[in-house]
Amino acid sequence: MPNIEFEKAAREAARTAPGKEVFPFDFEGKRYWIKRARPTGSNLLHHAAWRATKLPLLVPAVRQSASEALRHESSKLRRLADRGICVPAVELVTEEYFVMEDNGTSLRKILREGREDDLSRQLYRELFETLGRLHSIGEYHGGSQLRNFNYRGGNIAFLDFEEKFPESIPLKILQFRDLFLLLFSLVKDRHPLDYSEAIGHYVRSSGNDWVVDELKKLTEKTRALEALVRFPPLWKILDKDSKATYRMIQEIRKI
Ligand SMILES: Nc1ncnc2c1ncn2[C@@H]1O[C@H](COP(=O)(O)OP(=O)(O)O)[C@@H](O)[C@H]1O
Ligand SMILES: [Mg+2]
Repeated sequence: MPNIEFEKAAREAARTAPGKEVFPFDFEGKRYWIKRARPTGSNLLHHAAWRATKLPLLVPAVRQSASEALRHESSKLRRLADRGICVPAVELVTEEYFVMEDNGTSLRKILREGREDDLSRQLYRELFETLGRLHSIGEYHGGSQLRNFNYRGGNIAFLDFEEKFPESIPLKILQFRDLFLLLFSLVKDRHPLDYSEAIGHYVRSSGNDWVVDELKKLTEKTRALEALVRFPPLWKILDKDSKATYRMIQEIRKI
């Protein structure tokens, strides 16, 4: 598909949007997205927290230069597409950016509008099954918050694979982290779903039945902290993420 005209149109779109990192442009009546190269990686504090706790959820991402991150994401998208995972096709890769096809509608937007109807219930189910399928073929996402999922042509479709983790980190840890990130992003925005059921869908499609024990272990480790957090003066000053973490532990405890 890449041709001179397409490359020219992409270059022009990139030139006229200097401050933007991810943005759409149209070519011959079809929508595409440009994603510019930019560095990734966790900060020093994050590294320190990981060294101190060794909690799977705190695994720091590899520091990548802008061009490394661009090559990593565009080639991962291509590999996943070849393996039958629903991701946008990469149409063009340059030194400064890559161009992909449109990945459909933001799932976050659909679920926010739909709330507790049949379609939403179906989508929550498919969301966990889709993450499970990705894991069942030995892959991980790395940024599996709800905002990185779309809905396209009747399928849940993934976006945003720029995060990379060291080869030395076991896949299990990265997959557990994916599941945790997805659960956390849903709890944080107060999505009305049955979390036990959702985890069940994930387990069946991934084959990762060990996550149930890992989630339970996590709720055990945090028991002492919870009592502290419930203490009203402390609850008042907690930030949104800490409150969401607390609510998530409560949800996990029900499974
Ligand atoms: N191929 C695409 N199709 C549809 N929307 C896209 C596409 N690529 C990016 N977007 C939109 O741009 C946002 C940011 O892109 P993303 O790759 O997730 O970068 P970031 O790392 O900044 O989160 C996405 O949440 C989505 O709304
Ligand atoms: Mg994103």
